[in-house]
Amino acid sequence: MSSVTSDSGIVQGSPDFRDAGLVFPSGFTFGSATASYQVEGAAAEDGRRPSIWDTFSHTPGRVWNGDTGDVACDHYHRWESDLDLMQSLGLHAYRFSIAWPRIVPTGRIEDGVNQAGIDFYSRLVDGLLARGIRPVATLYHWDLPQTLEDAGGWPVRATADHFADYAGVMGAALGDRIHTWTTLNEPWCSAYLGYGQGGHAPGRHEPAAALAAVHHLNLGHGKALQALRATSTGSPEYSVTLNFHVLRGEGENSGEAMRRIDALANRAFTSPMLRGVYDEDLLADTAEVTDWAFVQDGDLETINQPIDVLGVNYYSTATVRLWDGSSPMQHNDGHKAADGGTAWPGSDRIVEFVQQPGPYTEMGWNIAPEGLLELLRSLSAQFPDQPLMITENGAAFADEVAADGSVPDPLRVDYLRRHLTAAHRAVEEGVDLRGYFVWSLLDNFEWGYGYAKRFGIVRVDFDTLERTPKASAHWFRQLAETGVLPA
Ligand code: GCO
Repeated sequence: MSSVTSDSGIVQGSPDFRDAGLVFPSGFTFGSATASYQVEGAAAEDGRRPSIWDTFSHTPGRVWNGDTGDVACDHYHRWESDLDLMQSLGLHAYRFSIAWPRIVPTGRIEDGVNQAGIDFYSRLVDGLLARGIRPVATLYHWDLPQTLEDAGGWPVRATADHFADYAGVMGAALGDRIHTWTTLNEPWCSAYLGYGQGGHAPGRHEPAAALAAVHHLNLGHGKALQALRATSTGSPEYSVTLNFHVLRGEGENSGEAMRRIDALANRAFTSPMLRGVYDEDLLADTAEVTDWAFVQDGDLETINQPIDVLGVNYYSTATVRLWDGSSPMQHNDGHKAADGGTAWPGSDRIVEFVQQPGPYTEMGWNIAPEGLLELLRSLSAQFPDQPLMITENGAAFADEVAADGSVPDPLRVDYLRRHLTAAHRAVEEGVDLRGYFVWSLLDNFEWGYGYAKRFGIVRVDFDTLERTPKASAHWFRQLAETGVLPA
């Protein structure tokens, strides 16, 4: 691939991040990802109790069309044929999440552990291994047991301890077979969308609580790693998955706007987890919201545990500028608006998110593969010894089923090809990137958007629950089988 680096540092690929024929290193992992509440259904079966997403989705007005995850893709019952599907797609690894309220229905192990829940995931893991697919398990992809939310949720310190107890249960049950343990998925969303902006469960609008949630999620991560290491008898790798904000600035002093959002969105997690500190500027920017008194002696040491891989989720960029108050503040941060809240405690009404140039996916997110390359370079420069894994990348488009029943999705193939070209470029530059998981295996419950947004490489008909691999799935299979970016 011929390419040049422009003065701005943005690589202009040839042609435009759409190369075919690029060869990935042998051993590079190609997998796909899902999350429990988005695919499982069986919400009240075999001892599972409600999570905050059950409550939220059943609250009128919270989710588009009143959709819920009660049935979702019915993966809980169709897991075996779903595993066959993954095998037929040549996937090396499957990133799934475990529903905490299936394992510990009230969230507190003192109230009992649900063996039927453990058995489900144990069968799933055995089924993956039997098909030669590596199990990559996330402990928390947003389905907090409702009873723990009723006791205060993530803003409360005890939740981190309950999370560690649950991690210990899972380590003992599956730690002989799991390939990679991931503690949290996107704690940014859990904390800021759940407790600040309110577009995600539990839908609260409490800026100080959002920052307390940030800390207790970080603490839960550290404690869960300790519990997993103490109980896993195999030799799993340990990880966490973060969603990073790749920022562009607009206007005068945009560096200050970018610094503030980088502190809240990115460094609020990477600094404690990977360096054992909260950055001074984060504490200063948020001082009017909270005094951070919830950080106790020893917490930062607990949070700062070594991890084998850092999971990176990337979809698009964000453009910010300092708001001057002369016109209504813009909120184009890519998240479904919920009334009254902010995802940016301490920087709300200081920083605004402006509309970015297209093209866009069906989520309204701008397509910017160069942002992925910049992110990988930046993480590699900040944390040179930290192997990276792209744990989510993908796109929602309004797919149409052709007359012959096939699902051509050229826009998704194009999106994937561009981002994989960017990932390949990062590897060529020496970034220690170990693999790529496409979001998602299946069309599924897309949180506040319900079933309206389709991210799958496999189509799901939500009336019949029938699965149909889209053209992107066939394209991805070639990539997984050959390690070569298909045309
Ligand atoms: C996320 C989640 C996924 C989403 C995906 C598209 O990480 O935000 O992991 O559950 O469905 O990102 O919004």
